[in-house]
Amino acid sequence: GISDLDQSRIHKGEYLHFMEKEIFEQPQAVKDTLLYACNQDNDDFSYEAFSMSESDFQDISRVRIIACGSAYHVGYVLKSVCESLARVPVQVELASEFRYNHPILEDGELVISISQSGETADTLAALKEAKKLGAKTLSIVNVKGSAIAVESDFVFYTQAGPEIAVATTKAYSCQLVAGYIFSLLLAKAKGKIKDEEACILRDELFLLPGKIQQCLSLDDEILPMAKNLKDSDNIFFLGRGLDWAISMEGALKLKEISYIHCESYSSGELKHGTISLIEKDSPVIALFSQEELAGKSISNIHEVKSRGAKCFSLTMENISIDEDDFVQNLSVPSTNPLFAGSLLVVPLQFLSYQVSVLKGLDPDKPRNLAKSVTVE
Ligand code: G6P
Repeated sequence: GISDLDQSRIHKGEYLHFMEKEIFEQPQAVKDTLLYACNQDNDDFSYEAFSMSESDFQDISRVRIIACGSAYHVGYVLKSVCESLARVPVQVELASEFRYNHPILEDGELVISISQSGETADTLAALKEAKKLGAKTLSIVNVKGSAIAVESDFVFYTQAGPEIAVATTKAYSCQLVAGYIFSLLLAKAKGKIKDEEACILRDELFLLPGKIQQCLSLDDEILPMAKNLKDSDNIFFLGRGLDWAISMEGALKLKEISYIHCESYSSGELKHGTISLIEKDSPVIALFSQEELAGKSISNIHEVKSRGAKCFSLTMENISIDEDDFVQNLSVPSTNPLFAGSLLVVPLQFLSYQVSVLKGLDPDKPRNLAKSVTVE
């Protein structure tokens, strides 16, 4: 989907790899996506950015998300934010499973496909199935005129620009933002949010590019953690709620380009099985951005620490944790907890990038993976 003109603009410049360049492009990409979502005459988010009307939004009674890989992880963030703000139930499904799971779609259920490339065969096939079942379909895609965009009733274009590195960074960040805006508009259309509250959230969203910019300075701070973790065989990611959703992406990113086995576990579920894998020096990365869940998550950290785990933490700056529990703690600026993932993901991207480079691998071209998979 990249034109000759784009091709000529694409060069890594001062960066070693496209992945690094694309991590650093995130403040701009997120800003462009926020602006794309606004009315031209004022800076309110508009239904039209989703090529929908207010009544199209009012008609939505449920949401089904179909996607693959990182885009699938965005689905869990969208679920959490949308259910919290708009009180509309959201179900997230792997596109490759949807078709074969005897899908049941209700009247008023909107099917959202999320895809950077807009060409992923699994997502396209699931979208076609949803249409056959009579659903209204919206796609959140990055590549203009791609198959998924063309096939959907409605489309929102993330403004990440061309993404070259196989492991997505800026497109993922723009998809998160698209999900926040969708949720906010749905809450508005459904009368679930007061005008002033919606304004506060919108203003907070416009602060994100600057805060993501601040997170870019974690580049150096995260290096000791990357060095400590680079020879690991297994890494455990822990989080609750939105932190769990973001840790899924952190684990996938690291797996994709460092070839280290990583899994993300819900902090509370750990003790129901996975804790048997924890032994002396098992690396654990814990995310803390949700204040009301932090206390519970800390007790889960104590459970793994007492089995010898070495723990690292990523926190939102307003949350206080006991630094002694962790080998290293990194923090990101405060934002509304619903949007925290947009900040926490940056150090996770750096971590996977740095581990890959430290291991002498090419983060832009991981083995066995393609940027866009056009077979089912
Ligand atoms: C491939 C890539 C993943 C990506 C997934 C979905 O498997 O390796 O990194 O998340 O496809 O791609 P899409 O273009 O649909 O977002």
